[in-house]
Parts: sequence; structure tokens; C-alpha cells
Amino acid sequence: MAGDSPERDPGKRLLVLGAGPAQLGLLAAARARELHVIAVDRDPSAPGFRYADRRAIVSTEDESGIERLASAERVEGLIAPGIDWPVAIAARVAERLSLPHAISSETAALSTSKLRQRERFAEAGVPQPRFEICSGPEEATAAAERIGFPCVIKAPDRQGQRGLTLVRSADEVAEAVRVALDAARTATLLVEEHVPGLEVTVNAFSSGGHFHPLTVTDRLTAPLPAFGVALTHAWPSELEPAQIGAVVEAAAAAAAAVGITEGPSYTQVLVGPDGPRVGELAARLGGGHDAELCRVALGVDLNGAALTAALGEELPPAKLAPVARMGGACVRFVVAPRGELREVAGIEDAFAQEGIRGIRIYRRPGHRFEDFRRGADRAGAILAVGDTRAEALERAAKAEAMIRFETDVEALV
Ligand SMILES: Nc1ncnc2c1ncn2[C@@H]1O[C@H](COP(=O)(O)OP(=O)(O)OP(=O)(O)O)[C@@H](O)[C@H]1O
Ligand SMILES: [Mg+2]
Repeated sequence: MAGDSPERDPGKRLLVLGAGPAQLGLLAAARARELHVIAVDRDPSAPGFRYADRRAIVSTEDESGIERLASAERVEGLIAPGIDWPVAIAARVAERLSLPHAISSETAALSTSKLRQRERFAEAGVPQPRFEICSGPEEATAAAERIGFPCVIKAPDRQGQRGLTLVRSADEVAEAVRVALDAARTATLLVEEHVPGLEVTVNAFSSGGHFHPLTVTDRLTAPLPAFGVALTHAWPSELEPAQIGAVVEAAAAAAAAVGITEGPSYTQVLVGPDGPRVGELAARLGGGHDAELCRVALGVDLNGAALTAALGEELPPAKLAPVARMGGACVRFVVAPRGELREVAGIEDAFAQEGIRGIRIYRRPGHRFEDFRRGADRAGAILAVGDTRAEALERAAKAEAMIRFETDVEALV
């Protein structure tokens, strides 16, 4: 979305897990760096494949398939830049093949389980929502009564709002438990206190054990029923400087608790009446073009830094030095009407507008948009900058209004 990386590493062989919307920025940066990229995705139409030298139609969850591929392709590094579960696979495969890797498999396991993370945060005193671990509806009902309503019920090992429900009263518990257990990989679920208030994301990079906080963005979410789905990441945050300080401290403590000393981290922090609560930490780049936002806002190339770490190369400290480039920036996700996509119009006009730095459309004609419920239902994103945050937001909204998704809505019978 935001220009080429100036680094070159011609021919170095990198395996990238995922070629979907969340990996587009890193894949584009890898191409600009002239790496030899083998991209893995089970979806042959994944948009990121266009940046890859080799496309492997393999699931990003197929650990043995990925290990075989990494060996056969003699890769020098692996990275799962934008989705959670493969972060742990990449770390384990790197360990088995003695490849350099930013994080250990233990850190990766903690980072990809909301449940193990909660336990570790509790041990380490990282502020977080109150939670209980349950296995079925009776336990969950009792836990929800103790925690109070509204509460949140979620699958411990999924992302993208799969298995996630805001539960407003006791009669909604059973359905939320069913949804969570359906999505979960094991027969457990989390019941959490719902933390009201603002929510921010801390995009950071650790190097030599030092946590470098970069963009802190406000996560503006969709109305119900699309609970928790980000519609905009806006920078700078509207929190007071002291609150931002506390948020960054919480994110740094979370990263330390799971053992991140190298590489990117993405920490969601809920800012309630009692201060920051860590919602979740991921040992990767943000999946919502957060690295591209960071680049236009602060001039720090997080995609490049993540590539450097994945190849086991040293990162010069100057690469992480932020310089405010803009007064404001945002990523605004776009939503298409339900139905089968025929055509997307107006992108060039939208892109020509002042302050629009990138537009990504995630789907091709033929894709069927369902009702808008989760992150995966989003149709694309716009990266905009401005002298102020408000101006960036305004520009993104104006560009969005120029993009038209033409869909064939199925006749109701
Ligand atoms: N305990 C909570 N209190 C308040 N809001 C919450 C809570 N848990 C989840 N949410 C809301 O739902 C969103 C997604 O939650 P969470 O990260 O746990 O699920 P996810 O499936 O991993 O989603 P994502 O892939 O977007 O991170 C949060 O960013 C937040 O907006
Ligand atoms: Mg999450």
C-alpha cells in the first residue's frame, strides 16, 4: 500500500504463510526487496499470490505440508505475518529445520492461544479483563453470572471474530457457548468481563530485547451484530498522552510476559474506567495494513523490519526510529453489499483523491459477500493521510463513497 522498501536481498528464499488480505503488505515488501518468495495459501485466488515467485496451494494450518515445502524449497526463513495460528507453525518448523526465527515455539504457542495468554498475563501481573475458562453451558452460565453482563464469550484459539459473542443476558449464554465451541479447536471457551470504552492497538517491534512502540491507533469497531470487527484504525489515538503511556506500558508488559524479544507485536488494549486491559497480543504484524499505516505516519517500515527478523538478519536501530511524517493517518475498511460481486468501479477516481496512499480490494468478481459479521466479510481497505487525524478520516470516507461494489443480490424466494 505504501511504496517500496529500499532494502534489497536478491534471491534470499522466504516462505510466507498466507497470501490473503492480511499478508498483502509484507508480500509486496518482499517482492520490492527482490526476495524469492514462496507463498502458501489454500485459496488459489488469494490476492497476495501476485507478489510471490511460487504459489503453493497448501493450507496455512498444514504443518507437515509446510515443513516439507520449507525443506524442499531450501528456504532461509519462514514468516506468518498476518494470521495467528500459522505463527506457531512457522516457529515450530523453523526450530525443527534450524532456521533463524524471531520467536521461540514456546512464545509462539503463548501468542496464539487466548487462554494460555490469559494465564501467563495473570502470572505476570499484566492488566487484562477478568476471565474464566469453561467447557460447557452450565459452567459458562455460572461464570457469566459471576462476571456480570454484558460479558464476552470466545473461542480460545481463533481469530477474526470466529466464535466470538457479546453476551448481554443469561438467555444468550447457551447460543454463545455453542458458537464458541463450534469454532474452538479444543473443547474450551473463555468467558470474559466486557471492558467498555475505547480500544487501541499498539504496533511495536522488539529488537535485542527492547520493545519499540510505534503507532498506537484507535480501533473503531462495527455496530452489532458485527461485534468487535474493526472498521477503522485511526492515528493518532484520541487518548490523553498519559493514557497512551499506560497503554504502551501494558503492551510492553504483555510482550515481555510471552517472551517476545525480537520481531513485531500487535497488542489490542481495551481502555476502561480502571485503565488499560490487554485484550490480546499477537506476535506478528497487524492484519489490517497496520504496517503500511505505520510507514506513512512515522516513516518506520515494519514490513521490512519483519522480513529482516524472519531472515535472521540484524536490524540497524535507526530503522525503528519514528519520525512523524503526517498529522494523521487511517486505515478504513470498506464493506460491500451482500451478493455475488460483478464489478468494482471507481477505484481509480478514489485513488486520485488527495491524501489517499493506497486502496486494496480483497475480492474478485464471482466472490459472494454474505451479511457483514466478521473481519473476513470486509471487502477492502483504504489508507489515507492528512494534516490531522480528522482530515485523514474525512478523506478516507470520501474515497470510500467513490468505490462501488456491484453485486447481484440473490432473489429472495
Ligand atoms: N473482553 C472484551 N471486552 C470488550 N471488548 C472485547 C472483549 N473481547 C473482545 N472484544 C471486542 O472484540 C474484538 C475482537 O476480540 P478478540 O481479539 O478477542 O477476537 P478475535 O477473534 O481474535 O478478533 P481479531 O482477529 O480482530 O483480533 C476486540 O478487538 C474488541 O473490540
Ligand atoms: Mg484478536
